[in-house]
Amino acid sequence: MPPSIIAIDGPAGAGKTVIGLWLADYLRYTFFDTGVLYRASAWLALTNSVAIDDADAIVALIERATIDVDSPQPSDAERGYTVTIDGHAVTDSLFTAEVNASVSPVAAHSAVRAALLPVQRRIGARGSVVMVGRDVGTTVLPDAELKIYLDASIDERARRRWEQEHRRGGTRTIEAVRADVAHRDALDTGRGSSPLRVADDAHRVDTDDLSLDDEKKAILDLVTMSRG
Ligand code: DC
Repeated sequence: MPPSIIAIDGPAGAGKTVIGLWLADYLRYTFFDTGVLYRASAWLALTNSVAIDDADAIVALIERATIDVDSPQPSDAERGYTVTIDGHAVTDSLFTAEVNASVSPVAAHSAVRAALLPVQRRIGARGSVVMVGRDVGTTVLPDAELKIYLDASIDERARRRWEQEHRRGGTRTIEAVRADVAHRDALDTGRGSSPLRVADDAHRVDTDDLSLDDEKKAILDLVTMSRG
């Protein structure tokens, strides 16, 4: 039997979504990207004109909203899932420059993290899940049978993000994308509440010098090794 709960953490642009979607498809597991919950929280704050530093008001918005992640509608096929808030599909709106700029400060509020924790744990408790994020192995699902920490150098992660943006019509320079990734790293690792770090029992996979096929092979080796 493959491990029932697989946690994949790592910094922005390490390729967690690509690998996580592939692995979930391969194992016929649910894929859940916890980052969308923080993005949805930032989107709720922005669309309701709530200040990004007003944690209590953001928590109230989260508690009033129904945030769901389902199989992709045709327009979200490349992303692999569709996010709905109160029944409206909002996936693309969660990846705008505005949300990108607000999501890390929103994710740094411990009250916001506490409000989103039960949502993530409920999905984890169903099992047969690949959950990706920053603190899945350390905080959300510390008992996950397999924890992977995907890593890559900042230059490589910036290059991948830039390529991804350009495929979707983005026009930012690679330098601008790199500065953004570096800023996000500082916020994700430097926050007081559940910062990004490698769990003691996580397997670290450095992807700089791996082709996507090599990376998949390394991940499958870990899955096989972790079989019960
Ligand atoms: O993975 P992403 O770029 O969509 O994540 C968006 C933000 O949410 C990023 O600043 C880190 C934060 N995040 C988090 O704090 N904890 C998670 N488990 C997932 C994402």
